[in-house]
Amino acid sequence: MITPMSSQPAAAAMPPRHFLDIADVDAATLRRMIDLAAQYRTGTAPEALRRPLAGKTLAMIFEKPSTRTRVSFQVGMQQLGGEVVVLSHQDTQLGRGETIPDASRVLSRFVDIMMIRTFAPETLHELADYASVPVINGLTDETHPCQVMADIATFEQHRGPIAGKVIAWTGDGNNVAQSWIEAAPKFGFEMRLACPEGLEPREDIVARARAEGATVIVGSDPRELLVGADCVITDTWLSMHDTDTDRSNALLPYQVNADLMACAKPSALFMHCLPAHRNEEVTDEVMDGPQSVVWDEAENRLHAQKAVMVWCMGLLS
Ligand code: CP
Ligand code: NVA
Repeated sequence: MITPMSSQPAAAAMPPRHFLDIADVDAATLRRMIDLAAQYRTGTAPEALRRPLAGKTLAMIFEKPSTRTRVSFQVGMQQLGGEVVVLSHQDTQLGRGETIPDASRVLSRFVDIMMIRTFAPETLHELADYASVPVINGLTDETHPCQVMADIATFEQHRGPIAGKVIAWTGDGNNVAQSWIEAAPKFGFEMRLACPEGLEPREDIVARARAEGATVIVGSDPRELLVGADCVITDTWLSMHDTDTDRSNALLPYQVNADLMACAKPSALFMHCLPAHRNEEVTDEVMDGPQSVVWDEAENRLHAQKAVMVWCMGLLS
């Protein structure tokens, strides 16, 4: 038997909740996501948020390689009760020129949420603009917000509230660094970046964080900027989108080795989003040393991604 349609007019669709950049989300919401990530880590999440995505599907689009992002989203979605479709650029019609707006509208008919790892942020924004389901930024050339959510969860796992702390970045002022800057006014920590000339973070991102009340210091001397730091962070000298072949001379003074680490507080943590190029941006001694929390940081991608997806799906206020 065919059930007649309701005579009620359809309710106006709510715009989807995208997670595109930390700067776009209010501080209280970000705090709830971090707290939920900690609950997922400790197995104390509310019953209603343990497997709330049964019957839902996440599509992941990759235009760049990934290990942590791919696995954390896939396992996270499975733990939340949902399923995943993985689309690599070259294996889909996107690789043959189907436009992002067209792909976005089509995928929105099949899946309930999307994550994209891409190059230009314009691609991410175009996907979101044409989607009728939430879109998550899984890294662009400019930002990596999911990584920094996991990093903040990691800092708080080890050192308690990040508000009022000093976070120091040394090396290329890249996508991960820029998401850290965006997080500074939201979580109330001081952000310091030591970068060689020409590899500083974008001025508009720094200016916005400062306008929102954060202390953001950008300089070139890591030994000076690390003094008093509660956390030292670095990343690869060459990101996936970078075409320069040799930055090692410029970046060698920014390498996190035992000597540089000693400039920070003795209690300072060491973080790296991974993958690391061992003995380039960080020495084995630091990476495998007692201050390093890189494996917890990787694990927290899983817990943070779950919290972000649950928020995007409207299940967290
Ligand atoms: N940190 C991070 O995003 O790792 P992958 O490139 O392996 O996803
Ligand atoms: N800055 C790095 C991060 C990798 C997770 C890149 O973009 O390649």
